[in-house]
Amino acid sequence: MTRNDVNAPFGFAVTYPEAVQLYGVHEHCETLALRNTAPGGTDPYRLKNSDIAYYEINSPMAMYGAVPVIYGHGPKATSGVFLHNAAEQWIEFTNQDGNSQANFMAEAGTLDIFVLLGSTPIDLVRQYTALTGTAHLPQLWTLGFHQSRNSYETQDEVKEVAENFDSNNFQLDAIWLDIDYTDGYRYFTWKPDGFDDPIGLQETIASTNKKLVTIIDPHIKVEPGYSVYDEALANDWFVKNADGSVFEGPCWPGNSGWMDFLKPEARDYYASMYSYDNFNGSTPTIAGIWNDMNEPSVFDSSLEQTLPPDSLHNDVVRHKEVHNIYGFLHTMATHQGLINRDNGERRPFVLTRSHFAGSQRYSAIWTGDNQADWPYLVASYPGCLNANILGIVFCGADVSGFIDSPTEELYQRWFQAGAWLPFYRSHSNVGTSRREPYLMSEDTQNIVREALQTRYKHIPQWYTLFYEHTRFGDPIIRPLFYHYPEDTNVYSTDNQILVGRDILVRPVMESGVDSVDVYFPGGEDEVWVSISGSDIQTGSGLVSVPVTIQSVPYYYRRGGVVVRKDTVRSNTVEMEDDPYSVYWTVDQNNQAHGTVYLDDGVSFKYRDSSDYNYYSIDINGDDVTVSPIDGDGNYEFVMSQLVRRDVVTLPKNGKPGTFKETIFTRDANGTLLKDIKVHLKEKTVFKLK
Ligand code: NOJ
Repeated sequence: MTRNDVNAPFGFAVTYPEAVQLYGVHEHCETLALRNTAPGGTDPYRLKNSDIAYYEINSPMAMYGAVPVIYGHGPKATSGVFLHNAAEQWIEFTNQDGNSQANFMAEAGTLDIFVLLGSTPIDLVRQYTALTGTAHLPQLWTLGFHQSRNSYETQDEVKEVAENFDSNNFQLDAIWLDIDYTDGYRYFTWKPDGFDDPIGLQETIASTNKKLVTIIDPHIKVEPGYSVYDEALANDWFVKNADGSVFEGPCWPGNSGWMDFLKPEARDYYASMYSYDNFNGSTPTIAGIWNDMNEPSVFDSSLEQTLPPDSLHNDVVRHKEVHNIYGFLHTMATHQGLINRDNGERRPFVLTRSHFAGSQRYSAIWTGDNQADWPYLVASYPGCLNANILGIVFCGADVSGFIDSPTEELYQRWFQAGAWLPFYRSHSNVGTSRREPYLMSEDTQNIVREALQTRYKHIPQWYTLFYEHTRFGDPIIRPLFYHYPEDTNVYSTDNQILVGRDILVRPVMESGVDSVDVYFPGGEDEVWVSISGSDIQTGSGLVSVPVTIQSVPYYYRRGGVVVRKDTVRSNTVEMEDDPYSVYWTVDQNNQAHGTVYLDDGVSFKYRDSSDYNYYSIDINGDDVTVSPIDGDGNYEFVMSQLVRRDVVTLPKNGKPGTFKETIFTRDANGTLLKDIKVHLKEKTVFKLK
């Protein structure tokens, strides 16, 4: 094939047999269920990674990421197509009973398609992640709460934020440094006026068991004497114009060049910049890196805010062929950099704005510059659900809204809802209200504290789900149709989620309400037991559930087991040695089942030398059996509480059912549960009667 061939646009159509609803094509600020496009519908969905300042709600306009995968789903079958192509694309949809269609139009590149045969949503997602990879386990601390701001201006300010979180009893694992910590947006440097003692800052942060995450963008200030610029120029590692000169354009530092991450040597060099020697003033307390502006963003509207389509990578590849994979390659270099920096001993944590199919292997994502307004809170759920069914599981949205300032009620509701997305970070823009939780009214502080505590208590469950993702490819948060594929009522549901299989969450994302509609799936035999309230529901559809400003409807599934750590600590490090609490309600057969995963929370030993323990927890009447599934680790599963919730009455005549809770801290012999040693190789039975 000559270079010209791959510059020709092409199109093709796919029919999804048996599908009534199409899903996929990340990233848009859209409903989870894809809408019909013209004629009579919305515009085609566009995939061209873009730095969009004010994205619209429910719009097919292009956003920061591109995952060209479309699933077709119906009660009888699910199938999918992945167009492995990184050029701009436009896609049209017709959802039609049993004969849904997608029309792909790509601006360049090759026709390289993968057909996923399904035939259930679970099969499909597993097939897709088998193809593009799963995320490796995140370090445990990344599942805690993150506090960010554009930008904390000085090291003293950062220390003060950390201190205030602690003194006001707000849990926190990491503080984020946005662009203003750098010396004039020269990445891998520190601003002399304000961040003159980065090591001292990191020592203070580390002394409270917290971490820092610093931003590193892909544009490089054009300035002879700035070593990154000099190296990249001397070694021919910049993206070039069509005439072979280095492309230069405006971004945060002023005139900038863009690293050509298509070149392996440029990626290697960039990776080497993360070493403690090269990123002068960095220590292991900088435990994660934030790659932003990597669509890439160029402040030039005549170029649609990005590199020119005919600019060149590797001297021959036109940018338009590979546009959508630029951010992916950026994170690939960063990820490698963190592995090298830490001698492969720590799992890298990278957050990226731009992403592509397979980005889960290198990074977490967030939904970019949302606004402090209710529709953006609502949109965070379909946004992260969609990413999750497309393999990119570690997803969140800026809690309380990046642009503008939230009302108090929105702020409260956002902390509650954000606690149930995989990545939980508060972030806000320059010029908006300062809104660290300790600055809020006492009522709000209490609500935020509760939301954070709910999050931290469930970290063992989140971690187990992440492990199961690495092993099986399942999403962490799931749309209802994932587990209830035949229930056509849930095909459009995207304001509630399943966290794994056994937790149903319906956050309150509307203002001034005293009840919300919750859809309980699964039929009469599925029972949902409230955790924040006192009701029990059967899976027979929509129920109006009363709420207060303090409550968020969330339920555990009867027959499932949820593992938690209920002692309230300041952060994940301090929770490390805490024992577990185990919650369940037995099903009609008097049984319940769950799993729990344990390892060192940091290293790749789980992957490289099976240094983990993965247990099955099986309840049968009054016996709780903990059995090793596999893993050669030495991590004992120590429980201090077994929390049994028995159904007393099932819902009747429109009234919710009730349950009775019994908490066991000792077994039937009177031995404290936490003193019972779990056998690492054989099963251990805890007898409650
Ligand atoms: C754009 C990002 O989306 C935002 O989160 C960040 O604060 C600014 N860039 C400044 O780095």
